[in-house]
Amino acid sequence: MHVVHVAVEMAPIAKVGGLGDVVTSLSRAVQDLGHAVDIILPKYDCLNLSKVKDFRFHSEYSWGGCQIKVWFGKVESLSVYFIEPQNGMFWAGCIYGCRTDGDRFAFFCHAALEFLVQSDFQPDIVHCHDWSSAPVSWLIKDNYKHYGLSNARVVFTIHNLEFGTNLISKAMAYADKATTVSFTYSKEVSMNPAIAPHLHKFHGILNGIDPDIWDPFNDPFIPMSYTSDNVVEGKRAAKDALQQLLGLKKSDHPLVGIITRLTVQKGIHLIKHAIWRTLERNGQVVLLGSAPDPRIQGEFSDLANQLHNIHGDRARLCLTYDEPLSHLIYAGADFTLVPSLFEPCGLTQLVAMRYGSIPVVRKTGGLYDTVFDVDHDKQRAQVQGLEPNGFNFDGADFAGVDYALNRSVNLIEWYSYVTA
Ligand code: ADP
Ligand code: GLC
Repeated sequence: MHVVHVAVEMAPIAKVGGLGDVVTSLSRAVQDLGHAVDIILPKYDCLNLSKVKDFRFHSEYSWGGCQIKVWFGKVESLSVYFIEPQNGMFWAGCIYGCRTDGDRFAFFCHAALEFLVQSDFQPDIVHCHDWSSAPVSWLIKDNYKHYGLSNARVVFTIHNLEFGTNLISKAMAYADKATTVSFTYSKEVSMNPAIAPHLHKFHGILNGIDPDIWDPFNDPFIPMSYTSDNVVEGKRAAKDALQQLLGLKKSDHPLVGIITRLTVQKGIHLIKHAIWRTLERNGQVVLLGSAPDPRIQGEFSDLANQLHNIHGDRARLCLTYDEPLSHLIYAGADFTLVPSLFEPCGLTQLVAMRYGSIPVVRKTGGLYDTVFDVDHDKQRAQVQGLEPNGFNFDGADFAGVDYALNRSVNLIEWYSYVTA
């Protein structure tokens, strides 16, 4: 089978969040099953080209009154075609954030299909993602039904319903299959008027993570490689390195890691509260996050300064995007907190578990489907042949997050006590 993804994010060369991770990891997983997979991406000027192998010019065509260059390269062993309209619409220094995002991604979708036709690609499946590549779903059926794409089935995946609801609804109407990234999120959104008419072809399929990229046994960003056999030593080395790097006190008290986009979705008020609560309990906190909204970024800068003055050796807020640091935090943290108000799937709790960092999450979407509370979910885990693996809580008030955090901190304090 030949699968083509049309996407606007791809890790590690053009990643904003989990969508980029999934485009790469899903493609690699399908390729490993023996299928042919290609990815079509805009050629942003901010691409991380150092991670693209065999990068070269591929072809050129004109469409929509514009000359378009196509470049080719290999990313994590995947073939990627980069679309570069010569009118400069992707030379804005960012992936999202232009006033014209809607127009430039619509242009990209059209140009991507035009490229497939002109290059005589005849994929079996064209897979598009979220509002940004939603137009592929109807363009293929309306504009390209007489071309080599006429046999292609369209799969449309919703990673986040928060943006572009009308585009998402239209894409679902045209797609052969529509999916979202966890079973619980598929239920949570099923009454939404954009989704409800399409439930007969809508499925919740849980994301996975790429075990080669997220692998504590083979991770260039952590000081000692480890597996479940030497997890205690490996995590201790990572915690020491993290504390040293960020100027925190060397201590065995629980260290809570938070790695996130700082947006309302991620439960900002709960994050702030949890930081103070952890410090009250003698723990340490490392937050790695960046906020697209300058107001939220400002709030966290103020908090960072305040914490620096009061708890400089126990709390560090790194308000940036930093891939290598994220690996060290997953490895060094005892817990990873994910208090999202809603979360279609969530990858951070999955990565955390792979690095032996216990997830503390709010019960929503994919967080509910992947984290089973040690005190409350034994049966729910058992039904799926799993063991309880973390802590979770209900509600969006402070009592819920306190309840989960207290139990997790108690666990580490108890562990330190019995192993001292
Ligand atoms: P979302 O896609 O909603 O942001 P996910 O949990 O699905 O949330 O995916 C987030 C991804 O982005 C994870 O791979 C996480 O490690 C990464 N990430 C988030 N914030 C940062 C940051 N500030 N620096 C580095 N990586 C980050
Ligand atoms: C979105 C969602 C996140 C999901 C990711 C990958 O960004 O917010 O929950 O894990 O897409 O599907």
